[in-house]
Amino acid sequence: MNSESNIKNFSPAADRNKEPILDLLKLYISKGRLLEIGSGTGQHAVFFGQALPELQWITSDVKRNHSTIKEYLIEAKLKNVHGPETLKVGEHDFPKGKFNYLFTANTFHIMSWKEVKTLIKLFGKRLREGALVFIYGPFNYNGDFTSESNKAFNDSLKDRNTNSGIRNFEDVLSNMQASGFKILNDHEMPANNRLLVFERLAFKED
Ligand SMILES: C[S@@+](CC[C@H](N)C(=O)[O-])C[C@H]1O[C@@H](n2cnc3c(N)ncnc32)[C@H](O)[C@@H]1O
Repeated sequence: MNSESNIKNFSPAADRNKEPILDLLKLYISKGRLLEIGSGTGQHAVFFGQALPELQWITSDVKRNHSTIKEYLIEAKLKNVHGPETLKVGEHDFPKGKFNYLFTANTFHIMSWKEVKTLIKLFGKRLREGALVFIYGPFNYNGDFTSESNKAFNDSLKDRNTNSGIRNFEDVLSNMQASGFKILNDHEMPANNRLLVFERLAFKED
């Protein structure tokens, strides 16, 4: 993805996975506010925003991706898709306000594990009982790759940045549980990806 330029970027992966992801989002989402972390090109936001008009979809990403996100938003002219907000995990909190849903695709293997843990802590701090978190991407199970192609992908990620890499499902799960979430589903998705769905539980009184 060329995210430095001032034009609309195109992600073939986001184009391929948008329909299967939408099919599942429709089962969980109705109206409310959704924050997207790492909106990337902006393709997902306009596609999902158009299909879910009752939902307010708030895009966010690091500054260098804002121009492409803006291009998609300007072209789509959707009243329910907003942003982009500046949000670099590790530097910024979520935007103000209540979020019923959180969506992030193909970010956990790009961010460092430290950033992933920071993000999961933010989920716990900023989301309230009943809020749903959707995490899309490849995951390992018990430390094993689920396919040769995921292993090769992991090698290419590590070549680019040693802090990147496919995360263990079990590590994500335990950190989410520590932040006050239970897992609702671990959906199998095309091309050895998963859609993890978590629900925020009530705050425990000490
Ligand atoms: C592989 S792209 C995925 C983009 C988009 N979600 C998609 O599915 O096409 C990874 C995204 O994670 C974002 N990202 C990486 N590190 C981040 C951080 N620390 N905070 C917020 N976003 C981050 C990148 O800017 C990029 O948009």
